[in-house]
Amino acid sequence: MKQAPLPTNEYQRLKALERYQILDTDPESAFDDLTALVAYICGTPIALVSLVDEHRQWFKSRVGLEAIETSRELAFCAHAICQPDKMLIVPNALEDERFATNPLVIGAPNIRFYAGAPLITPDGFALGTLCAIDHEPRELNAEKIAALQALSRQVISQLELRINITKLKKNISKRVQVEQNLRGTNQRLTQVLNKLRQTQVQLIQSEKMSSLGHLVAGIAHEINNPVNFIYANLSHLNSYVNDLLNLLTLYQKHYPNPNAEIQSQAQIVDVNFLLEDLPKILSSMKIGTERIQEIVLSLRNFSRLGESEKKLVDLHEKIENTLLILRHRLKATAKRPDILIIKEYGDIPQVECYAAQLNQVFMNILSNAIDAVEESVIKTQNPQPKIRIRTEIYRPNYVVMKIADNGAGIPEAIQARIFDPFFTSKPVGKGTGLGLSISYQIVVNKHGGTLKYKTKPDNGTEFWIEIPIKK
Ligand SMILES: Nc1ncnc2c1ncn2[C@@H]1O[C@H](COP(=O)(O)OP(=O)(O)OP(=O)(O)O)[C@@H](O)[C@H]1O
Ligand SMILES: [Mg+2]
Repeated sequence: MKQAPLPTNEYQRLKALERYQILDTDPESAFDDLTALVAYICGTPIALVSLVDEHRQWFKSRVGLEAIETSRELAFCAHAICQPDKMLIVPNALEDERFATNPLVIGAPNIRFYAGAPLITPDGFALGTLCAIDHEPRELNAEKIAALQALSRQVISQLELRINITKLKKNISKRVQVEQNLRGTNQRLTQVLNKLRQTQVQLIQSEKMSSLGHLVAGIAHEINNPVNFIYANLSHLNSYVNDLLNLLTLYQKHYPNPNAEIQSQAQIVDVNFLLEDLPKILSSMKIGTERIQEIVLSLRNFSRLGESEKKLVDLHEKIENTLLILRHRLKATAKRPDILIIKEYGDIPQVECYAAQLNQVFMNILSNAIDAVEESVIKTQNPQPKIRIRTEIYRPNYVVMKIADNGAGIPEAIQARIFDPFFTSKPVGKGTGLGLSISYQIVVNKHGGTLKYKTKPDNGTEFWIEIPIKK
């Protein structure tokens, strides 16, 4: 027996074989179809796709043979790959000095006939063969040889296909990975963007508040003095006017028939109407001035939020106080039933805060809720106006007070503006539009808390006042 020499490019050839990652893989129908075709076309009992490794030949596909590999020394294919441009055809192994004593010839599987078409890669390396083997000596005609060669090229095509599919799969999984990374980055970016937007809104809000605070403080101060002056003098004016009116009445009583000039003047000024109307005018002036004072007071509260000390406060007590003050507004009227107050007080500790200011927040938000449910009774026939007050610890170190009404909700169109100072949707003379902006200032800027709301059309609004337990 003569051993096959090593191909001259053996090192690169083995590298090429390794690139295909085919050795010791499971059978695949694409290769099995090809060996079946070879056996059929050449009429041989055995057909193999044999790949020649460093020390063995390994069969990717085999027809008519049990073994999955043999040593390289015994391999006919080891000879075939040394002449990549030709087929190796051995008509009768017993008559060929290279194979006559080969154990595969003298013993099982008793090879006599061998025809191997080298499997040549596109870059010219012979990886093994597609071969037909018989136990009898025989010949192959030119057509069958051509068929065997054509099929050997198909084996290479399949190998190339496998390599490309593997590459594609790797590519796809890489892409999926990249896509996942991108999605993650995208998500993080969106989060950052949202945070930035929130910060921006907060900055704008606090900037607005602080410049407005100065303006408001100035205006409130300017208005306060003259209004106080008017208010203080109104009572004097009232008593002077009363005195004059009394005097006039006395004159009328004791001089029922004054001279002609007085009579005509009395007619011109319509003394009786004057007597009747003057006190009314004075009283509406008083009401008007009081209203201005109220507004000035809230303006001053708005701009002078820094006053007074922080104290430990029982929030439930403060809420109760506020409800007490608002009691007259909760009672049934001709137009609606009592406003139901549902209290769901949780187990919350005392909180360090500016009590007077928080009172103001409760007052503002509860007043808004009352306005909202009242309006819903009129506009949407809400049968039972109600307000639910819930307190709880929603996250560590913070208490939250949720004030929910079953009013008509806040229309989307105005949602962006409700915290703006002087924004109001209420009729002239009813709201100043300062309630929420003052509350925002108190909760967010003064207490480091959050003031937010959830609202649904026709389903009411819930305001969240969340403040830290200790600062
Ligand atoms: N619970 C609520 N339901 C529906 N709308 C509300 C509610 N709370 C506030 N709003 C809307 O927000 C606007 C602003 O409220 P804000 O308390 O600042 O001003 P106001 O109530 O109109 O006037 P005031 O200064 O007298 O409080 C309101 O006019 C109203 O449109
Ligand atoms: Mg209000």
